[in-house]
Amino acid sequence: MGTVILGTGSCLPRNVVTNSDLEKIVDTTDEWITSRTGIQSRHIASGDEYTYKLSARAAEKALEMAGVGAEELDLIVVATISSHMLMPSSACFVQNEIGATNAFAWDLNAACSGFLYGIDLADKYVRADKKSKILVIGAETLSTRINWEDRNTCIIFGDGAGAAVVGYSESESGYIGSNLSSDGSLWKLLHMHAPESTNPNLKVPDNTGAHIVMEGREVFKHAVKAMEDAVRGLLEREQLTLDDINLVIPHQANIRILNKLKERLQLPEDKVFINVSDYGNTSAASIPIALDEAKRSNRISSGDTVLFCSFGGGFTWGASLIKW
Ligand code: UT7
Repeated sequence: MGTVILGTGSCLPRNVVTNSDLEKIVDTTDEWITSRTGIQSRHIASGDEYTYKLSARAAEKALEMAGVGAEELDLIVVATISSHMLMPSSACFVQNEIGATNAFAWDLNAACSGFLYGIDLADKYVRADKKSKILVIGAETLSTRINWEDRNTCIIFGDGAGAAVVGYSESESGYIGSNLSSDGSLWKLLHMHAPESTNPNLKVPDNTGAHIVMEGREVFKHAVKAMEDAVRGLLEREQLTLDDINLVIPHQANIRILNKLKERLQLPEDKVFINVSDYGNTSAASIPIALDEAKRSNRISSGDTVLFCSFGGGFTWGASLIKW
């Protein structure tokens, strides 16, 4: 009995960019990208596939699965770091696009951990008011925030959106809890400046432009340790073990990070949902896209306990548990 995910949905841009396509843009090879990241292709937005448009399509599918009308929504949260405007939020655009006339809406910035932060927040709302229906979306068009001349980053990221409708159920299922963290002291290792300040008296130092800058190796090390610690801490607190978990849905950062995590937690291959080869790292969208795929391919059954874990810029990281 408690907060449940009533429906999920996802939407990927039409255009698929392969590693061979990237060989034509930067000094890289399919072999390097595949062996270092496990990524073979990613979807890249074009035309009017803005973050909010992908979000709205994902949301419509989630609402349909949930059997909830858009006008029943109380709150829309879009976790993103790549809204097509700074104001209004992507959430407000989604609210208008899907006709959620009774919802208030805002964006959440927690990079790759945004969806888990959003679900945790939705849980608090639902606990306060069992009638609440909340749409949590993780969506990115990071292709608009990439330096396409930087081979360290442009090969990694992809675009897409995933959505979940959150509500209350009297059944045995529900949100078990989370273990979420942030550490702003390490921001430099993975960051993206805002556009240049127009205030001549306020200069932001070292503004390298509004695109992603990453110290890959350092991020890698922190990501593995942080996700492992978050998972262990959460399981210990909830008095569960990995044997109690039916499926792990991690942030799809990089296959080597996921393999290290599997190794450290001694997770069997079939307990971890991985789709990074087809989508790359879609930041806040990666977990909800994977969740939707897992749900629609019957990898999650009623009664299953699903474990999520994430790591991203901020740094932000965490783990959460839901009994289906
Ligand atoms: O959501 C969290 C976000 N971030 C991540 O998950 C990223 C975490 N980090 C990583 O995934 C890895 O660090 C990368 C995939 C980014 C890089 O792999 P790496 O094994 O750590 O490589 P590296 O940065 O240490 O670079 C090794 C070499 C360098 O050449 P030299 O200096 O040894 O001659 C790089 O210049 O590989 C070179 N390199 C490339 N070569 C071909 C870097 N990017 C590329 C590339 N193609 N795309």
